[in-house]
Amino acid sequence: MRAGGRTELWDRAAAACVLTLSLGCLHVIALKSQLFPGLVPRAAGPPINYKTLYFDQKIDHFGFLEDGTFKQRYLVADKHWEQPGGPVLFYTGNEGDITWFCNNTGFMWEVAEELGAMLVFAEHRYYGESLPFGQDSYSDSKHLNYLTSEQALADFAVLIQNLKSTRPGAEHSPVIAVGGSYGGMLSAWFRMKYPNIVVGALASSAPIWQFPGMVPCGDFYKTVTQDFARSGSHCGANIRKSWKAINNVSSTASGLQWLSEEFSLCTPLKNKMDSVSFKNWLQETWVNLAMVDYPYEADFLQPLPRWPIQVVCKYLGFYSTVSDYQLLHGVSKAAKVYYNYTGSSSCLNTSQTATGSLGSLGWTYQACTEMVMPMCTDGVQDMFEPEEWNFQAFSDECNAMFGVRPRADWAGVVYGGKDLAAHSNIIFSNGGLDPWSAGGVTHNITDSLVSVMIPDGAHHLDLRYSNDFDPPSVRAARALEVGYFRQWIRQARKARPKKSTP
Ligand SMILES: *[C@@H]1O[C@H](CO)[C@@H](O)[C@H](O)[C@H]1NC(C)=O
Ligand SMILES: *[C@@H]1O[C@H](CO)[C@@H](O)[C@H](O)[C@H]1NC(C)=O
Ligand SMILES: *[C@@H]1O[C@H](CO)[C@@H](O)[C@H](O)[C@H]1NC(C)=O
Ligand SMILES: *[C@@H]1O[C@H](CO)[C@@H](O)[C@H](O)[C@H]1NC(C)=O
Ligand SMILES: *[C@@H]1O[C@H](CO)[C@@H](O)[C@H](O)[C@H]1NC(C)=O
Repeated sequence: MRAGGRTELWDRAAAACVLTLSLGCLHVIALKSQLFPGLVPRAAGPPINYKTLYFDQKIDHFGFLEDGTFKQRYLVADKHWEQPGGPVLFYTGNEGDITWFCNNTGFMWEVAEELGAMLVFAEHRYYGESLPFGQDSYSDSKHLNYLTSEQALADFAVLIQNLKSTRPGAEHSPVIAVGGSYGGMLSAWFRMKYPNIVVGALASSAPIWQFPGMVPCGDFYKTVTQDFARSGSHCGANIRKSWKAINNVSSTASGLQWLSEEFSLCTPLKNKMDSVSFKNWLQETWVNLAMVDYPYEADFLQPLPRWPIQVVCKYLGFYSTVSDYQLLHGVSKAAKVYYNYTGSSSCLNTSQTATGSLGSLGWTYQACTEMVMPMCTDGVQDMFEPEEWNFQAFSDECNAMFGVRPRADWAGVVYGGKDLAAHSNIIFSNGGLDPWSAGGVTHNITDSLVSVMIPDGAHHLDLRYSNDFDPPSVRAARALEVGYFRQWIRQARKARPKKSTP
């Protein structure tokens, strides 16, 4: 999931994209915004083995004129399933290829056996292979019109109803929704909207409050800043100074050349506009590091050492004032921890911050319609250049790109905003290091709307495979989560009316 928010990030890209709705063009735009939570690092774990299946899903669940269907992909692993009636753990797919989320949600694979559960991973419409209009799905706004979270939730509901009625032994299986990041938002909303279909939900690193008026727009970048501040002395302060240093150095042609060489850029910086893109790219690099600040070596957005921000901060420990050149030399060393940990990168590409970009175009459209997530910086409480949230400018960019304007208040109306107490059986887990926790549910709402905090966890660490370097907090979180799963399954079995047998 990527956040589309910051207007400056959109301005340049949109200028080039007004006329062409090409993938390449939008790819650039999406890369100018943060990677949304959703991408889970690959880790070693038990071998995974699933069947790939397809289900004919209505293109439009909510109107009756469009009667077409499309093939929704879903994956099933029932090796450990106890039938009849064993539970189903149902992953509510994010904005991307479902096999990738399936391969990387080690937690589900690890608990399947102890729960006797079937695992199902359902792909979100418009991503991976689940394209309602085939390869034309993104060709115009008319086709994109059916890319909404409401339609995706209805897909999940219809698919589960079908599984229960067609799979022998599944009729009375309690189903639990699981998801991380945008997939976690969907799992929480799924329980809220379809309590008849799922008995509970685990929403990991799900920023369901990152919407207008729900949390301060600056909290996201404040969290990023705190991660750097606590990972090395003066680290955040030196990054805060680096923007002015870049402005100074890039004001001359020879300075631009120096910067390009120092950072081993694939494409040398030529002008002021290039240096603005360069700063955005660096900013996004620091955000990505905050998301994947895991306690062990991992390969997710990039291959990285354990606690990568601590490694980055080793190059940013200047105590006294140093020249702009010395400071930026340190910044380049730091950036190369992220981009060249394996030593195999020949140059740094300022159009890329992550390997494997999943569903960036679809997510940009979702950010431009329902998923409006305000973000801002002030340069005081965070280490970035000040930038206000500007809804109007954001809306104009969306209109130029897709011919649609976002509805700022819709997510709050349709999913309840902060008034959730009438719901039940949802776990919201959040990592204290994860910038997306700023928009997450980090306090208990009721006895059954529970917040699980993982203070030294980054982005949905709990959904990853277990690891020897896991902090005790994530081990405890996983144990608590499985405890709630068991409780919901027991509740569901008790509530089921007994058949009157002679
Ligand atoms: C997921 O794992 C399966 C089986 O190992 C593999 O075929 C598939 O390519 C993987 N998908 C991704 C996106 O890595
Ligand atoms: C600003 O840049 C110029 C050259 O571009 C350099 O001579 C000067 O030292 C820089 N200022 C500081 C404070 O480092
Ligand atoms: C990446 O690291 C290798 C090995 O240290 C080095 O040879 C190469 O120049 C580095 N690449 C960049 C872009 O700095
Ligand atoms: C940089 O990344 C962009 C976007 O992925 C790609 O199109 C381009 O070819 C890359 N440039 C180089 C020099 O690798
Ligand atoms: C919420 O309640 C549960 C169960 O009592 C507890 O384990 C958890 O720590 C609480 N969460 C927070 C954020 O206080």
